[in-house]
Amino acid sequence: MSCLLRVNASATPDTSFSRRVADTFTETWTGDVVTRDLAHSPVAHLDAAGITARATAPGERTAEQATAAALQDELVEEFLGASAYLFAVPMYNYSIPSVFKAWLDQVMVPGRTIGLGPGAAPTAGRTAVVVSARGGGYGPGAPQHGKDHLVPALRTILSDTVLFGLDLHFITPELTFAPTVDQLRPLLHLHEESLADSHDLARRHAEKLNHA
Ligand SMILES: Cc1cc2nc3c(=O)[nH]c(=O)nc-3n(C[C@H](O)[C@H](O)[C@H](O)COP(=O)(O)O)c2cc1C
Repeated sequence: MSCLLRVNASATPDTSFSRRVADTFTETWTGDVVTRDLAHSPVAHLDAAGITARATAPGERTAEQATAAALQDELVEEFLGASAYLFAVPMYNYSIPSVFKAWLDQVMVPGRTIGLGPGAAPTAGRTAVVVSARGGGYGPGAPQHGKDHLVPALRTILSDTVLFGLDLHFITPELTFAPTVDQLRPLLHLHEESLADSHDLARRHAEKLNHA
């Protein structure tokens, strides 16, 4: 049975555009869904105990290392147990929300999930869809063009063949500030177009995966 791991990273779930577009995906998807909500349940930052636990045999770990390793095991098993991924990850300060970065740091375990050689990651070739809403516009010709540091970073982390090697797709509903910020209101039509395209793309990605 296909299983989708959905990770939500918006700090404001009730009004989240990323979340609503991701909902369109999951409403179309016919397999199982496991959801990890980082707004309600953020994961701990990777600390010294978590890093050193990776190179310490289970029987030799301190209590702190054992606790950190248990969290990593839970997150890694959940990650590897999925056959596809849906990441609802808004742009915060031009980049990845810290709760999502903390989750990534926990599941990027050299020798286990990454760093196993080109194309050798257990997740290699699995589909992942990132939905990343952003308040501004970042397309060609926009004043902010070139300042999106989320998409390039996630492209490297999630799709590089020596890392997770995922078959990665981005959906970026833009100008989400347009309905509420006066200066951006003239761009409302562009926001509405971008949002409609995003829902459509989410539906099409899910339909394609249903038939894969
Ligand atoms: C802490 C924070 C930082 C943000 N930084 C940016 C930014 O750098 N660029 C931008 O275009 N929008 C920025 N925004 C706006 C969000 O990207 C926008 O509200 C988006 O819709 C949030 O995703 P969500 O609707 O899924 O919650 C920021 C919002 C917050 C709360």
